[in-house]
Amino acid sequence: MILLYFAMYSIPNMAQNNSIAQKVDSLLQLMTLEEKVGQMNQYNGFWDVTGPVPENGNAAMKYEHLKKGWVGSMLNVTGVKNVRKLQQLVVEESRLGIPLLFGQDVIHGYKTLSPIPLAEAASWDMAAIEMSARIAAEEASAVGINWTFAPMVDISRDARWGRVMEGGGEDPYLGMHIARARVKGFQGDDLSKNNTIAACAKHFAGYGFVESGKEYNTVDIGTSTLYNTVLTPFKAAVDAGVKTIMNGFNVLNGVPVTGDFRLQREILKEKWGFDGFVISDWASIGELVPHGFAEDLAQAAEIAAKAGSDMDMESSAYVTQLVELVKTGRVNESLVDDAARRILTVKYELGLFDDPYRYCNEKREKEELNRKEHHAAALEMAKKSIVLLKNEGHLLPIKKDQPKIAVIGELANDNNSPLGSWRLSSDNNSAVTVLEGLKKFSGNITYARGPKIFDPNTNFLDEISPNLTDESGLSEAVALAKTSDIVLMVLGEHGFQSGEARSRTKLGLPGLQLKLLQEVYKVNKNVVLVLLNGRPLTLEWEAKNIPAILETWQLGSQAGNAIAAALFGEINPSGKLPMTFPRNVGQIPIYYNHFSTGRPTLEPNVFWSHYSDVQNEPLFPFGFGLSYTTFAYSDLQIDSSDQNNIKVEVTITNTGDWAGEEVVQLYIHDKVASIVRPVKELKGFQKINLAPKASQKVEFHLTEKELGFYNNAYEFVVEPGTFDIMVGTSSQSGLHGSFTLN
Ligand code: NOJ
Repeated sequence: MILLYFAMYSIPNMAQNNSIAQKVDSLLQLMTLEEKVGQMNQYNGFWDVTGPVPENGNAAMKYEHLKKGWVGSMLNVTGVKNVRKLQQLVVEESRLGIPLLFGQDVIHGYKTLSPIPLAEAASWDMAAIEMSARIAAEEASAVGINWTFAPMVDISRDARWGRVMEGGGEDPYLGMHIARARVKGFQGDDLSKNNTIAACAKHFAGYGFVESGKEYNTVDIGTSTLYNTVLTPFKAAVDAGVKTIMNGFNVLNGVPVTGDFRLQREILKEKWGFDGFVISDWASIGELVPHGFAEDLAQAAEIAAKAGSDMDMESSAYVTQLVELVKTGRVNESLVDDAARRILTVKYELGLFDDPYRYCNEKREKEELNRKEHHAAALEMAKKSIVLLKNEGHLLPIKKDQPKIAVIGELANDNNSPLGSWRLSSDNNSAVTVLEGLKKFSGNITYARGPKIFDPNTNFLDEISPNLTDESGLSEAVALAKTSDIVLMVLGEHGFQSGEARSRTKLGLPGLQLKLLQEVYKVNKNVVLVLLNGRPLTLEWEAKNIPAILETWQLGSQAGNAIAAALFGEINPSGKLPMTFPRNVGQIPIYYNHFSTGRPTLEPNVFWSHYSDVQNEPLFPFGFGLSYTTFAYSDLQIDSSDQNNIKVEVTITNTGDWAGEEVVQLYIHDKVASIVRPVKELKGFQKINLAPKASQKVEFHLTEKELGFYNNAYEFVVEPGTFDIMVGTSSQSGLHGSFTLN
């Protein structure tokens, strides 16, 4: 054993002055086929499970494989003690002692939780989003993790899909900026530092377009949507240097993406020059069999390896099949070499060959988690993520000396739901509740819970829960509302009602919450609806009747403090929706950047593109969000004299009495093109801060990058013609102009 230990260290040392590529090449020459295939194998740890457990997934076998060097990475093993134990096993007992990668879904924080990604997207603040990912990396790296399965960059137009909470919303341009910011935040400038970790852009590709929003469902979209919408943030992540990409569970246009040669080899690796590695999703190689794309596990491994899936997460397809497939000539060994080379390169870049225990520092583990500064940043991020949807008669902010403030709703007193979904290693029940936050501002608060909204005992099938139709709790809440000056109704979704495998067909407030709200409204009209939710909801009655609505998503550890700060006017809400809110589920998919159709406008007859029972417009459009102040847009100027750099200028004035931030948004419309272009496309945004009555000029530049698009042959083209411009406060309103590209 001592000899082998020495042998392992002699590998990198021998090649100390060489480049990583040379070191990887020398190492590859020492490796057996089994060891190279071993690098392509990832096992789940022995405790946290984030997917179905395979039959052969027993711990004894995994230990055996670790010792043989047949495992390249583990997921869901965390904590310095646990990570060190497995790293040591591999480094000291396997023949070559190649260190493991330790991956986990660190999605919006490790212990200190930031808002869910959809909420962060509502901030439109890239520096804050980058900082939030930085903090997640600081904490995760302190417990032994060197790789996160984030950011999820799937664009989605369907709020029925529970995973919209994990992404940046519906728009590829905003999504592209968020992808970059999060990759930079996780990976930092130097991956070999002990506080930076490899990022993983997922799920490549199209998962956000699952039919009918049903989890794991089929995806069937056209090339134009694939190239111009779905792939955009992935390309941005690759350009930002993301080290890994995860494929997905879904079929895309007839081909399961895990086995998609064109996507992974042709587009990602060849066209984009991605030099990191691709990991499958949990068991998605094995799932090529039930998809009907492979006959058995051997063929599944063959297809996936050929298509460019480099590492197998938890389906044991590679570790059990690939050696034989190479020996019998079904898979060329050069493909195994290529995959192993990519994986080893990332390990070198992370500095694991210099020190396999780089991320196993007990002191850091003690000091880094839940640091005060991390919570301060999470609070800032949470404040920036809040969106004011309605504020009739300036009901908000609440005056602190208001004598009787009623707070109603189970979620107001819930310290778990604000943490949202996807927070594997955080402490349960660790969020500041809305009630706790509010009580720091006012002593005049009385609380009533109202009916229950969620029953964890039904395996997320709320329909079958008797608790959710139990009306007890209603009368107490209504009685409280009756005797109060103002009522804060804290309603929405339980933290686990969104996330993976939490698709819903009804997007109204779950359980009896709408009834509760309506009963309260009958006795008191001064109602503020404070929403806690992981996805857009359908709120037609609420938007029509309730005078003030504040969208607070699931804001993480500091949720209650941020919400109270917004309600009492300590901050001025500045978030803008990253996803359209439909009027009803029948409007879905609904998104601002749709095509025109041949019959777009109201006709005196019935033959135009519309529904008979609901208007076309959404309830709240993409980019929408109010403020306690108001902003006026004026003086739009477009200078197209330099055709390679069109300059757009606009003046924004704060016309109200509050200082406030505004996200100034620029949209283009390419009026006539060789493939039809969306009626509007976001192509620029800037967040500015204005004192009352102050004005600021904002300047945008449009170059080929913004004006071009991918045609159906996946060529980027810029076509001459007229472009309409809109600069405004949301995707629905602003100043209009146009210019011509010659
Ligand atoms: C399945 C999810 O789709 C993926 O995003 C996640 O990273 C893996 N499980 C691992 O937990």
